[in-house]
Amino acid sequence: MLKRPAAVLGLFESPRALLSAIELLRARGRWSLEAYTPYPVPGAEAALGLKRSPLAAMVLIMGSLGALTAYLFQWWMNSVDYPIVVGGKPVDAWQAYVPVLFEVTVLFAAFTAGLGMLLLLNRLPDFRHPLLSSKSAAALTRDKFGLALEPAEGPFDAGAAEAALREVGAEAVEVLNQPAPPAPVKPRTLLLLAAGGALACLAAGLGTYWTLKLFPALPPMSHMLEHPKLVPQKPSAFFKDGRGMQAGVPGTMARGRLPYPCKTEACASRLANPLPRAAEVLRKGRKAFDTSCAVCHGALANGRPLLSEAYGAKPADLQSSRFLSMEDGRIYHTLMTGKSAMPSFASSLTDDERWSLAHYLRALQRAQHAEDEDLR
Ligand code: HEC
Repeated sequence: MLKRPAAVLGLFESPRALLSAIELLRARGRWSLEAYTPYPVPGAEAALGLKRSPLAAMVLIMGSLGALTAYLFQWWMNSVDYPIVVGGKPVDAWQAYVPVLFEVTVLFAAFTAGLGMLLLLNRLPDFRHPLLSSKSAAALTRDKFGLALEPAEGPFDAGAAEAALREVGAEAVEVLNQPAPPAPVKPRTLLLLAAGGALACLAAGLGTYWTLKLFPALPPMSHMLEHPKLVPQKPSAFFKDGRGMQAGVPGTMARGRLPYPCKTEACASRLANPLPRAAEVLRKGRKAFDTSCAVCHGALANGRPLLSEAYGAKPADLQSSRFLSMEDGRIYHTLMTGKSAMPSFASSLTDDERWSLAHYLRALQRAQHAEDEDLR
Protein backbone atom coordinates (compact mmCIF):
# COMPACT_ATOMS: atom_id res chain seq x y z
CA MET A 1 0.00 0.00 0.00
CA LEU A 2 1.29 3.40 -0.96
CA LYS A 3 2.01 5.52 2.08
CA ARG A 4 -0.01 8.70 2.03
CA PRO A 5 1.33 11.73 3.92
CA ALA A 6 -1.23 12.81 6.50
CA ALA A 7 0.61 15.75 8.00
CA VAL A 8 3.91 17.59 7.98
CA LEU A 9 5.54 18.30 11.30
CA GLY A 10 8.00 21.13 11.88
CA LEU A 11 10.16 21.39 14.99
CA PHE A 12 10.95 24.73 16.60
CA GLU A 13 13.55 25.73 19.14
CA SER A 14 11.41 27.90 21.44
CA PRO A 15 7.81 28.76 22.23
CA ARG A 16 8.39 32.21 20.74
CA ALA A 17 9.47 30.70 17.40
CA LEU A 18 6.44 28.43 17.47
CA LEU A 19 4.03 31.29 18.13
CA SER A 20 5.38 33.44 15.31
CA ALA A 21 5.27 30.43 12.91
CA ILE A 22 1.65 29.80 13.87
CA GLU A 23 0.76 33.40 13.15
CA LEU A 24 2.47 33.43 9.76
CA LEU A 25 1.03 30.10 8.60
CA ARG A 26 -2.47 30.73 9.90
CA ALA A 27 -2.60 33.86 7.80
CA ARG A 28 -2.14 31.72 4.67
CA GLY A 29 -5.20 29.67 5.61
CA ARG A 30 -4.31 26.57 3.53
CA TRP A 31 -3.78 24.14 6.40
CA SER A 32 -5.30 23.23 9.66
CA LEU A 33 -2.69 23.71 12.37
CA GLU A 34 -1.93 21.62 15.42
CA ALA A 35 0.73 22.46 18.01
CA TYR A 36 2.56 19.87 20.12
CA THR A 37 4.48 21.24 23.11
CA PRO A 38 6.15 19.69 26.16
CA TYR A 39 4.22 22.04 28.47
CA PRO A 40 1.29 24.45 28.05
CA VAL A 41 2.46 27.46 26.07
CA PRO A 42 0.56 30.63 26.99
CA GLY A 43 -0.87 32.29 23.90
CA ALA A 44 -0.80 29.15 21.74
CA GLU A 45 -4.54 28.58 21.99
CA ALA A 46 -5.31 32.16 21.03
CA ALA A 47 -2.77 32.03 18.16
CA LEU A 48 -4.31 28.80 16.85
CA GLY A 49 -7.77 30.35 17.13
CA LEU A 50 -9.06 27.55 19.37
CA LYS A 51 -12.46 28.07 20.91
CA ARG A 52 -12.84 27.97 24.67
CA SER A 53 -13.12 24.36 25.82
CA PRO A 54 -16.57 23.36 27.07
CA LEU A 55 -14.89 21.19 29.73
CA ALA A 56 -15.29 23.75 32.54
CA ALA A 57 -19.03 24.02 31.90
CA MET A 58 -19.35 20.23 31.75
CA VAL A 59 -17.55 19.88 35.07
CA LEU A 60 -19.74 22.57 36.67
CA ILE A 61 -22.94 20.90 35.49
CA MET A 62 -21.92 17.37 36.48
CA GLY A 63 -20.50 18.54 39.83
CA SER A 64 -23.80 20.26 40.63
CA LEU A 65 -25.64 17.13 39.55
CA GLY A 66 -23.41 15.13 41.89
CA ALA A 67 -24.26 17.45 44.79
CA LEU A 68 -27.96 17.19 44.01
CA THR A 69 -27.78 13.40 43.70
CA ALA A 70 -25.98 13.06 47.03
CA TYR A 71 -28.45 15.39 48.74
CA LEU A 72 -31.57 13.68 47.38
CA PHE A 73 -30.13 10.25 48.08
CA GLN A 74 -29.44 11.05 51.75
CA TRP A 75 -32.66 12.96 52.18
CA TRP A 76 -34.64 10.00 50.81
CA MET A 77 -32.82 7.46 52.99
CA ASN A 78 -33.04 9.50 56.16
CA SER A 79 -36.50 10.99 55.94
CA VAL A 80 -38.44 8.60 53.69
CA ASP A 81 -37.02 5.11 53.56
CA TYR A 82 -35.50 4.64 57.00
CA PRO A 83 -36.28 7.57 59.28
CA ILE A 84 -34.44 7.00 62.56
CA VAL A 85 -34.23 9.72 65.15
CA VAL A 86 -30.64 9.92 66.40
CA GLY A 87 -30.03 11.82 69.61
CA GLY A 88 -33.24 13.81 69.18
CA LYS A 89 -32.04 15.47 65.95
CA PRO A 90 -34.45 15.98 63.07
CA VAL A 91 -34.36 13.07 60.63
CA ASP A 92 -33.57 15.42 57.75
CA ALA A 93 -30.46 17.13 59.16
CA TRP A 94 -28.60 18.50 56.12
CA GLN A 95 -25.48 19.29 58.15
CA ALA A 96 -24.82 15.56 58.44
CA TYR A 97 -24.97 15.17 54.65
CA VAL A 98 -22.08 17.52 53.94
CA PRO A 99 -19.19 14.99 53.87
CA VAL A 100 -20.99 12.67 51.45
CA LEU A 101 -22.26 15.64 49.46
CA PHE A 102 -18.68 16.88 49.07
CA GLU A 103 -17.34 13.46 48.11
CA VAL A 104 -19.98 12.78 45.47
CA THR A 105 -19.63 16.27 44.01
CA VAL A 106 -15.88 15.73 43.62
CA LEU A 107 -16.44 12.23 42.24
CA PHE A 108 -18.83 13.39 39.52
CA ALA A 109 -16.69 16.44 38.69
CA ALA A 110 -13.41 14.48 38.56
CA PHE A 111 -14.79 11.72 36.36
CA THR A 112 -16.35 14.28 34.03
CA ALA A 113 -13.06 16.20 33.79
CA GLY A 114 -10.92 13.09 33.20
CA LEU A 115 -13.15 10.99 30.98
CA GLY A 116 -14.80 13.97 29.24
CA MET A 117 -11.40 15.37 28.27
CA LEU A 118 -9.89 12.06 27.14
CA LEU A 119 -12.81 10.27 25.53
CA LEU A 120 -15.32 12.94 24.55
CA LEU A 121 -13.27 15.98 23.61
CA ASN A 122 -9.95 14.46 22.54
CA ARG A 123 -11.47 11.26 21.13
CA LEU A 124 -8.74 9.08 22.60
CA PRO A 125 -7.51 6.45 22.17
CA ASP A 126 -6.74 7.18 18.51
CA PHE A 127 -4.42 4.54 17.02
CA ARG A 128 -4.40 6.22 13.61
CA HIS A 129 -3.11 9.59 14.72
CA PRO A 130 -0.26 10.72 12.39
CA LEU A 131 1.93 11.73 15.33
CA LEU A 132 2.17 8.06 16.35
CA SER A 133 4.43 7.47 13.33
CA SER A 134 6.67 10.44 14.12
CA LYS A 135 10.33 10.01 14.99
CA SER A 136 10.37 13.33 16.84
CA ALA A 137 7.54 12.47 19.25
CA ALA A 138 10.01 11.93 22.10
CA ALA A 139 11.66 15.32 21.49
CA LEU A 140 8.23 16.95 21.67
CA THR A 141 7.87 15.75 25.25
CA ARG A 142 11.24 17.29 26.23
CA ASP A 143 12.47 20.49 24.65
CA LYS A 144 11.10 20.87 21.11
CA PHE A 145 7.98 22.67 20.01
CA GLY A 146 6.13 21.09 17.13
CA LEU A 147 3.71 22.48 14.60
CA ALA A 148 1.88 20.06 12.32
CA LEU A 149 0.19 21.14 9.11
CA GLU A 150 -2.71 19.01 8.03
CA PRO A 151 -4.76 19.53 4.89
CA ALA A 152 -7.67 21.88 5.62
CA GLU A 153 -9.50 20.44 2.62
CA GLY A 154 -8.74 18.87 -0.74
CA PRO A 155 -5.53 17.03 -1.71
CA PHE A 156 -2.48 17.51 0.47
CA ASP A 157 0.64 18.93 -1.10
CA ALA A 158 3.23 17.75 1.43
CA GLY A 159 6.07 19.45 -0.46
CA ALA A 160 4.44 22.87 -0.20
CA ALA A 161 3.75 22.37 3.49
CA GLU A 162 7.35 21.34 4.07
CA ALA A 163 8.66 24.41 2.28
CA ALA A 164 6.27 26.69 4.19
CA LEU A 165 7.46 25.30 7.52
CA ARG A 166 11.12 25.80 6.63
CA GLU A 167 10.32 29.30 5.47
CA VAL A 168 8.89 30.28 8.87
CA GLY A 169 11.94 28.95 10.68
CA ALA A 170 11.41 25.24 11.44
CA GLU A 171 14.78 23.68 12.29
CA ALA A 172 13.67 20.20 11.19
CA VAL A 173 10.73 18.98 9.16
CA GLU A 174 9.20 15.51 9.06
CA VAL A 175 6.48 14.14 6.80
CA LEU A 176 4.05 12.05 8.86
CA ASN A 177 2.17 9.14 7.32
CA GLN A 178 -1.11 7.80 8.52
CA PRO A 179 -0.16 4.75 10.65
CA ALA A 180 -1.67 1.44 9.58
CA PRO A 181 -4.80 0.53 11.51
CA PRO A 182 -4.01 -1.77 14.43
CA ALA A 183 -4.43 -5.47 13.67
CA PRO A 184 -7.72 -6.90 14.94
CA VAL A 185 -7.38 -8.62 18.30
CA LYS A 186 -7.08 -12.39 18.02
CA PRO A 187 -9.73 -14.50 19.83
CA ARG A 188 -6.89 -16.24 21.64
CA THR A 189 -5.66 -12.91 23.03
CA LEU A 190 -9.19 -12.00 24.12
CA LEU A 191 -9.54 -15.35 25.84
CA LEU A 192 -6.19 -14.93 27.60
CA LEU A 193 -7.21 -11.42 28.73
CA ALA A 194 -10.55 -12.67 30.09
CA ALA A 195 -8.90 -15.58 31.86
CA GLY A 196 -6.26 -13.27 33.32
CA GLY A 197 -8.97 -10.88 34.56
CA ALA A 198 -10.95 -13.70 36.14
CA LEU A 199 -7.82 -15.04 37.79
CA ALA A 200 -6.92 -11.61 39.16
CA CYS A 201 -10.46 -11.19 40.59
CA LEU A 202 -10.28 -14.63 42.18
CA ALA A 203 -6.86 -13.90 43.69
CA ALA A 204 -8.06 -10.55 45.05
CA GLY A 205 -11.23 -12.13 46.51
CA LEU A 206 -9.44 -15.08 48.13
CA GLY A 207 -6.60 -12.83 49.28
CA THR A 208 -9.01 -10.47 51.01
CA TYR A 209 -11.01 -13.33 52.50
CA TRP A 210 -8.00 -15.11 53.95
CA THR A 211 -6.30 -11.94 55.11
CA LEU A 212 -9.40 -11.04 57.11
CA LYS A 213 -9.73 -14.63 58.32
CA LEU A 214 -6.13 -15.01 59.44
CA PHE A 215 -5.62 -11.49 60.76
CA PRO A 216 -9.12 -10.45 61.79
CA ALA A 217 -8.11 -7.73 64.16
CA LEU A 218 -4.70 -6.15 64.08
CA PRO A 219 -4.14 -2.90 65.95
CA PRO A 220 -5.59 -0.33 65.57
CA MET A 221 -8.72 -2.18 64.35
CA SER A 222 -8.61 -4.45 67.42
CA HIS A 223 -9.21 -1.43 69.66
CA MET A 224 -12.75 -1.36 68.31
CA LEU A 225 -13.32 -4.84 69.73
CA GLU A 226 -11.48 -4.32 72.99
CA HIS A 227 -12.97 -1.08 74.26
CA PRO A 228 -15.18 -1.38 77.36
CA LYS A 229 -18.80 -1.80 76.35
CA LEU A 230 -22.05 -3.48 77.36
CA VAL A 231 -22.93 -6.65 75.48
CA PRO A 232 -26.53 -7.87 75.87
CA GLN A 233 -26.76 -11.43 77.28
CA LYS A 234 -23.21 -11.09 78.68
CA PRO A 235 -22.10 -10.36 82.24
CA SER A 236 -20.84 -6.90 83.06
CA ALA A 237 -19.02 -5.61 86.11
CA PHE A 238 -20.54 -2.19 85.54
CA PHE A 239 -23.91 -2.89 87.18
CA LYS A 240 -24.50 -4.13 90.72
CA ASP A 241 -26.36 -7.25 89.59
CA GLY A 242 -23.47 -8.20 87.27
CA ARG A 243 -25.61 -8.28 84.11
CA GLY A 244 -25.06 -6.39 80.88
CA MET A 245 -28.75 -6.15 80.10
CA GLN A 246 -30.94 -4.10 82.42
CA ALA A 247 -34.69 -3.92 82.85
CA GLY A 248 -36.31 -0.54 82.29
CA VAL A 249 -36.49 1.78 85.29
CA PRO A 250 -39.83 1.01 87.03
CA GLY A 251 -42.55 3.46 86.10
CA THR A 252 -40.97 4.64 82.83
CA MET A 253 -43.20 4.74 79.80
CA ALA A 254 -42.95 5.63 76.16
CA ARG A 255 -43.39 9.31 75.34
CA GLY A 256 -46.77 10.30 73.96
CA ARG A 257 -48.63 7.50 75.78
CA LEU A 258 -50.77 7.54 78.91
CA PRO A 259 -50.09 4.75 81.38
CA TYR A 260 -52.59 1.89 81.17
CA PRO A 261 -55.35 2.92 83.59
CA CYS A 262 -57.10 -0.39 84.35
CA LYS A 263 -56.36 -2.77 87.21
CA THR A 264 -59.54 -4.86 86.84
CA GLU A 265 -61.40 -6.59 84.00
CA ALA A 266 -64.51 -4.58 84.82
CA CYS A 267 -62.58 -1.37 84.17
CA ALA A 268 -61.08 -2.83 80.95
CA SER A 269 -64.47 -3.85 79.58
CA ARG A 270 -65.38 -0.16 79.37
CA LEU A 271 -62.37 0.75 77.18
CA ALA A 272 -63.18 1.37 73.53
CA ASN A 273 -60.91 0.16 70.73
CA PRO A 274 -59.30 3.40 69.44
CA LEU A 275 -58.45 1.92 66.02
CA PRO A 276 -60.89 1.78 63.08
CA ARG A 277 -61.75 -1.63 61.64
CA ALA A 278 -59.77 -0.92 58.47
CA ALA A 279 -57.89 -3.26 56.13
CA GLU A 280 -54.54 -1.85 57.24
CA VAL A 281 -55.37 -2.41 60.92
CA LEU A 282 -56.51 -5.98 60.22
CA ARG A 283 -53.31 -6.67 58.33
CA LYS A 284 -51.27 -5.43 61.28
CA GLY A 285 -53.37 -7.58 63.61
CA ARG A 286 -52.87 -10.66 61.46
CA LYS A 287 -49.12 -10.15 61.41
CA ALA A 288 -49.01 -9.82 65.21
CA PHE A 289 -51.34 -12.81 65.67
CA ASP A 290 -49.38 -15.10 63.37
CA THR A 291 -46.14 -14.03 65.05
CA SER A 292 -47.09 -14.02 68.72
CA CYS A 293 -50.37 -15.90 69.27
CA ALA A 294 -50.85 -18.63 66.67
CA VAL A 295 -48.14 -20.77 68.25
CA CYS A 296 -50.45 -21.37 71.26
CA HIS A 297 -53.98 -20.53 70.09
CA GLY A 298 -53.68 -21.93 66.53
CA ALA A 299 -53.89 -19.94 63.31
CA LEU A 300 -57.73 -19.99 63.54
CA ALA A 301 -57.71 -19.06 67.25
CA ASN A 302 -59.56 -22.31 68.06
CA GLY A 303 -57.11 -23.38 70.76
CA ARG A 304 -55.71 -26.23 68.68
CA PRO A 305 -52.15 -25.42 67.82
CA LEU A 306 -49.60 -27.94 66.62
CA LEU A 307 -47.65 -27.50 69.83
CA SER A 308 -50.52 -27.89 72.31
CA GLU A 309 -49.61 -31.41 73.47
CA ALA A 310 -45.98 -30.70 73.98
CA TYR A 311 -46.92 -27.47 75.70
CA GLY A 312 -49.15 -29.00 78.37
CA ALA A 313 -51.32 -26.00 79.38
CA LYS A 314 -54.60 -25.56 77.54
CA PRO A 315 -54.74 -22.35 75.51
CA ALA A 316 -58.23 -20.87 75.42
CA ASP A 317 -60.45 -21.69 72.39
CA LEU A 318 -61.08 -18.13 71.34
CA GLN A 319 -63.83 -19.33 68.96
CA SER A 320 -66.02 -20.48 71.89
CA SER A 321 -69.14 -18.46 72.72
CA ARG A 322 -67.59 -16.85 75.80
CA PHE A 323 -65.03 -15.06 73.67
CA LEU A 324 -67.43 -14.12 70.85
CA SER A 325 -69.02 -11.64 73.20
CA MET A 326 -65.87 -10.58 75.05
CA GLU A 327 -65.27 -6.84 74.79
CA ASP A 328 -62.17 -5.57 72.93
CA GLY A 329 -61.08 -3.87 76.15
CA ARG A 330 -60.91 -7.20 78.00
CA ILE A 331 -58.89 -8.83 75.24
CA TYR A 332 -56.53 -5.87 75.47
CA HIS A 333 -56.42 -6.27 79.25
CA THR A 334 -55.45 -9.96 78.95
CA LEU A 335 -52.59 -8.99 76.67
CA MET A 336 -51.40 -6.37 79.18
CA THR A 337 -51.57 -8.62 82.24
CA GLY A 338 -51.19 -12.14 80.82
CA LYS A 339 -53.23 -15.01 82.22
CA SER A 340 -51.98 -18.16 83.97
CA ALA A 341 -49.71 -19.84 81.41
CA MET A 342 -50.06 -16.98 78.93
CA PRO A 343 -47.37 -14.34 79.34
CA SER A 344 -48.02 -10.60 79.35
CA PHE A 345 -47.53 -8.83 76.03
CA ALA A 346 -47.25 -5.41 77.67
CA SER A 347 -43.68 -4.87 76.50
CA SER A 348 -43.30 -7.17 73.51
CA LEU A 349 -46.21 -5.68 71.52
CA THR A 350 -47.02 -2.04 70.89
CA ASP A 351 -50.26 -0.38 71.92
CA ASP A 352 -51.48 -0.37 68.31
CA GLU A 353 -50.59 -4.02 67.83
CA ARG A 354 -52.62 -5.02 70.89
CA TRP A 355 -55.69 -3.10 69.74
CA SER A 356 -55.38 -4.32 66.14
CA LEU A 357 -55.16 -7.89 67.51
CA ALA A 358 -58.61 -7.40 69.05
CA HIS A 359 -59.94 -6.40 65.61
CA TYR A 360 -58.23 -9.32 63.90
CA LEU A 361 -59.63 -11.77 66.48
CA ARG A 362 -63.12 -10.52 65.53
CA ALA A 363 -62.36 -11.24 61.88
CA LEU A 364 -61.20 -14.79 62.72
CA GLN A 365 -64.34 -15.38 64.81
CA ARG A 366 -66.62 -14.05 62.05
CA ALA A 367 -64.88 -16.34 59.55
CA GLN A 368 -65.66 -19.40 61.72
CA HIS A 369 -69.21 -18.27 62.55
CA ALA A 370 -70.33 -16.95 59.17
CA GLU A 371 -73.97 -15.90 58.91
CA ASP A 372 -76.26 -16.25 55.93
CA GLU A 373 -75.84 -12.62 54.97
CA ASP A 374 -72.07 -13.07 54.66
CA LEU A 375 -72.69 -15.34 51.69
CA ARG A 376 -74.76 -12.82 49.79
C1 HEC B 1 -47.57 -19.37 75.53
C2 HEC B 1 -48.85 -19.68 74.90
C3 HEC B 1 -49.76 -18.52 74.59
C4 HEC B 1 -49.52 -17.47 73.77
C5 HEC B 1 -48.24 -17.18 72.99
C6 HEC B 1 -50.71 -16.68 73.76
N1 HEC B 1 -51.64 -17.23 74.57
FE1 HEC B 1 -53.48 -16.48 74.89
N2 HEC B 1 -53.81 -17.92 76.24
C7 HEC B 1 -52.97 -18.96 76.54
C8 HEC B 1 -53.55 -19.79 77.58
C9 HEC B 1 -52.88 -21.01 78.18
C10 HEC B 1 -54.80 -19.21 77.90
C11 HEC B 1 -55.79 -19.68 78.90
C12 HEC B 1 -55.56 -18.93 80.17
C13 HEC B 1 -56.52 -19.35 81.22
O1 HEC B 1 -57.76 -19.22 81.00
O2 HEC B 1 -56.06 -19.79 82.26
C14 HEC B 1 -54.92 -18.04 77.03
C15 HEC B 1 -55.99 -17.19 77.05
C16 HEC B 1 -56.21 -16.16 76.17
C17 HEC B 1 -57.37 -15.32 76.13
C18 HEC B 1 -58.56 -15.44 77.05
C19 HEC B 1 -58.33 -14.67 78.29
C20 HEC B 1 -59.48 -14.83 79.27
O3 HEC B 1 -59.84 -13.81 79.82
O4 HEC B 1 -59.93 -15.96 79.47
C21 HEC B 1 -57.22 -14.44 75.13
C22 HEC B 1 -58.16 -13.34 74.69
C23 HEC B 1 -55.92 -14.71 74.56
N3 HEC B 1 -55.33 -15.76 75.21
C24 HEC B 1 -55.40 -14.00 73.48
C25 HEC B 1 -54.10 -14.17 73.06
C26 HEC B 1 -53.52 -13.35 72.06
C27 HEC B 1 -54.22 -12.24 71.29
C28 HEC B 1 -52.24 -13.75 71.94
C29 HEC B 1 -51.17 -13.18 71.06
C30 HEC B 1 -50.66 -11.89 71.41
C31 HEC B 1 -52.04 -14.85 72.86
N4 HEC B 1 -53.18 -15.08 73.53
C32 HEC B 1 -50.85 -15.54 72.99
C33 HEC B 1 -51.72 -19.20 75.97
C34 HEC B 1 -51.10 -18.34 75.11
